[in-house]
Amino acid sequence: MRITVLGRGNVGGGLADAWERAGHHVTRLGRDGGDASDADVVLVAVPGGAVADALDRVSGLEGTTVIDATNLPGLPPPEGFASNAEFVKSKTGGPTAKSFNLNLASLYGQLGEARATPSNLWCGDEEARQVVERLNRDAGYDPVRTGPLEAAALQESALPLILAIGEGTGPFVYRFAPLGEL
Ligand SMILES: NC(=O)c1ccc[n+]([C@@H]2O[C@H](COP(=O)([O-])OP(=O)(O)OC[C@H]3O[C@@H](n4cnc5c(N)ncnc54)[C@H](OP(=O)(O)O)[C@@H]3O)[C@@H](O)[C@H]2O)c1
Repeated sequence: MRITVLGRGNVGGGLADAWERAGHHVTRLGRDGGDASDADVVLVAVPGGAVADALDRVSGLEGTTVIDATNLPGLPPPEGFASNAEFVKSKTGGPTAKSFNLNLASLYGQLGEARATPSNLWCGDEEARQVVERLNRDAGYDPVRTGPLEAAALQESALPLILAIGEGTGPFVYRFAPLGEL
């Protein structure tokens, strides 16, 4: 797949490394933006409050499949939207998903050490399912769907829960699965 990551920090850079190892072609864009017209899928991994600014600096996004990995710690979603992911879709108009916002980037390189494959939550458009689930697996996660894109607000609001768990455990992964798959 041709993937463009918008944001090349902990999340964008870390997933880019994993996806390159899995054989994908990845273009990394930072705050200066660039062109994404050749991308099969774009990952948005910039600070949650900078999404509008970041999208404005990227051309060729119309109709593209997008995975939004952002969180909005302490910030409301953009005015008129329940979530950053729905705001992103209003700008790009293509299949959109929320994923990778509820796992720690610092553990990307160690997922293979887990006893069972860690889960990673995603929600979004059915048209994005194949791409999102494949890129979850190629990053070392087992994808778990939480619903349509309207569930993005729920995923974004779950960040305090994840942080609260981490206060007790330190950096952690999680797995949601039927009993027989644990
Ligand atoms: N860190 C985690 O474990 C984690 C986990 C899940 C979700 N998230 C979320 O994922 C997003 C990225 O987190 P991160 O830890 O990867 O951040 P980060 O390491 O600070 O990287 C941020 C990236 O965004 C770019 N950027 C900053 N301001 C921008 C702007 N105004 N316009 C366009 N691009 C801009 C930076 O560009 P330059 O390269 O040019 O500096 C950098 O590449 C955040 O929304 C965060 O809440 C983080």
